Amino acid sequence: MKKIIAANWKMNMTITETKNFLKKIVPKIKNTKNDVILCLPFTNIQTLKNMAKNTKIHIGAQNFYFEDKGAYTGEISSAMLKDVGVEYVIIGHSERREIFKEDDLLINNKIKKALKEKIIPILCVGESLKERQENKTFEKIKKQLANDLLGIESSQIKKIIIAYEPIWAIGTGKTATAGEAEEVCKYIKDFIGKEYGESIKKAMKVLYGGSVNNQNAKELFKKENIDGGLIGGASLKLEFIDMVNTKY
Ligand code: 13P
Repeated sequence: MKKIIAANWKMNMTITETKNFLKKIVPKIKNTKNDVILCLPFTNIQTLKNMAKNTKIHIGAQNFYFEDKGAYTGEISSAMLKDVGVEYVIIGHSERREIFKEDDLLINNKIKKALKEKIIPILCVGESLKERQENKTFEKIKKQLANDLLGIESSQIKKIIIAYEPIWAIGTGKTATAGEAEEVCKYIKDFIGKEYGESIKKAMKVLYGGSVNNQNAKELFKKENIDGGLIGGASLKLEFIDMVNTKY
């Protein structure tokens, strides 16, 4: 089945490194049957745009600010992203929530602005190790979804991609089992179904992220409620080619 394979490069790669890496991967992934989205650091997006011209590769960013313009030192607007060809943006990644103290209200505002500007949000949700150990996974996911999606119309909800990223599995090499990932992705879809209706639920895409690599991708992505992956570390390696080209 066709899956969404999204790369989150995080804060990695200079322009030179980006050129070298894309030179190796673009020719091999450009005709993939899966949907491939590369979310690069801002400074590398123009390079991707140039090198992925006339391919099926989609361009993504990792963040932006919801105001149109003005005195917001260090920030990037949706118009700036669109101008450089961005179609997708990651919102609410746990690293932004934890390190940069982004709260649900800010995330909610970013999702609304992205939708208004026709950039597809990839909303990340997920529990900490402590929350999982205390059996609070579903409670946490429900709270994040309720707050982050507050006030967004049903017709808009189905455009959002949700990524389930358990914090304990990010960059740790400790991936959720396919069963654990499926269970939460199903919970997310059921929540959407209950709040916004069955047809929205059917149209929704939910990804899994957290130590996905070429070895475990197949088992994870063949699950019914996992529509693909948001991939960090492995997206910076050549194994990403196989992950994009595999028929799941
Ligand atoms: P890793 O694949 O490196 O664990 O990162 C996952 C992630 O945070 C993707 O957004």
